Amino acid sequence: MQKVITVRPSIKGNTILVTGGAGFIGSHLVDRLLDMEAKEVIIIDNLFLGSEENLADAISRGAILYKDDAEFATSLEYIFERHDIDIVFNCATKALNYSFMNPSNSFETNTKVVLNLLELQRKKAFSTLCHFSTSEVYGTAVYEPMDEDHPRNPTTLYAAGKAAADLAVETYVRMYDLDAFIIRPFNNYGPRQNFKGEMAGVIPITAFRVLNDLPLEIHGTGSQSRDFIYVHDTVDAIVNVYDKLPKGESVNISTHNQVSIKEVIETIAHEMEYKGEILRKPARNSDVFCHNASNDKLNSLIEFNLTPFSEGLKKSIHWYIAAIKN
Ligand SMILES: NC(=O)c1ccc[n+]([C@@H]2O[C@H](COP(=O)([O-])OP(=O)(O)OC[C@H]3O[C@@H](n4cnc5c(N)ncnc54)[C@H](O)[C@@H]3O)[C@@H](O)[C@H]2O)c1
Repeated sequence: MQKVITVRPSIKGNTILVTGGAGFIGSHLVDRLLDMEAKEVIIIDNLFLGSEENLADAISRGAILYKDDAEFATSLEYIFERHDIDIVFNCATKALNYSFMNPSNSFETNTKVVLNLLELQRKKAFSTLCHFSTSEVYGTAVYEPMDEDHPRNPTTLYAAGKAAADLAVETYVRMYDLDAFIIRPFNNYGPRQNFKGEMAGVIPITAFRVLNDLPLEIHGTGSQSRDFIYVHDTVDAIVNVYDKLPKGESVNISTHNQVSIKEVIETIAHEMEYKGEILRKPARNSDVFCHNASNDKLNSLIEFNLTPFSEGLKKSIHWYIAAIKN
């Protein structure tokens, strides 16, 4: 059967809300929406991990930041009363590592924000919802490459919350015919990814440790793999797939390639001329072993150019050197 693709409000000329827009991917998305001449770009972010610094350029170009919590329906309602919003990109989340400290709130953030938005959408407060899922919902691959039909086997409460959110989006579409769809990024890396503390991902934390003369660490064997994608490529894919993916559907945003954690750490060590030790640490509980994603569906919808991993890594390291030394 021919799939009907809803005609969506265009990015150009419309008012867009980005939840979690002061974070890593969200802030790059905000920049791109401004480049594409959105009428107004509004951000709600409680600055749990995001920062105003990530939005410095965007705010100077007219983006509006509400430092508020999207888990409270009333915080969103207040924004919707003040702005005539057409499109919402839902990026808000608390980093995966937080779920090892506060599993329940990690789950709640991932479910409450999207439920608040879906209720607003059901009441016709806005037209289109692009919801951010994560490769983590799949768990360790039971077959490779993982396509969108791969079973969802979350291994953390973070991923369980994301999987529940996916089901909520899919079910609201079925019940109320909402124009909502799901993009599912794999592991992003690039400028602005948080490098501080226990919430940092492997690439930023490794760069941080080199720049602070701390020994590098590999957890487990290091053979666990991820499908790493440069953040600008993810944003390209999202804005291009925006008017092509039918409502209720999801699409992987990935490279169809995988790199082992050991290789990532050794490449960063080489690029940054690190001569110290690489310590072996116990494997992390619930670490997904293998993530190798199919991007066939994405490629069937859009033309997609990917930044080679070595090039993206060089750009990221360049940014970390400037950001960490300041
Ligand atoms: N970075 C990745 O590799 C990756 C991979 C797969 C999926 N994703 C998804 O992409 C989205 C963006 O991820 P990211 O890497 O930019 O994360 P991030 O942590 O940098 O950004 C998330 C933002 O949400 C904000 N936030 C948290 N709780 C909030 C709340 N209650 N109300 C308002 N704002 C809140 C944080 O302050 C942060 O700025 C997330 O939904 C994430 O699950 C990311």
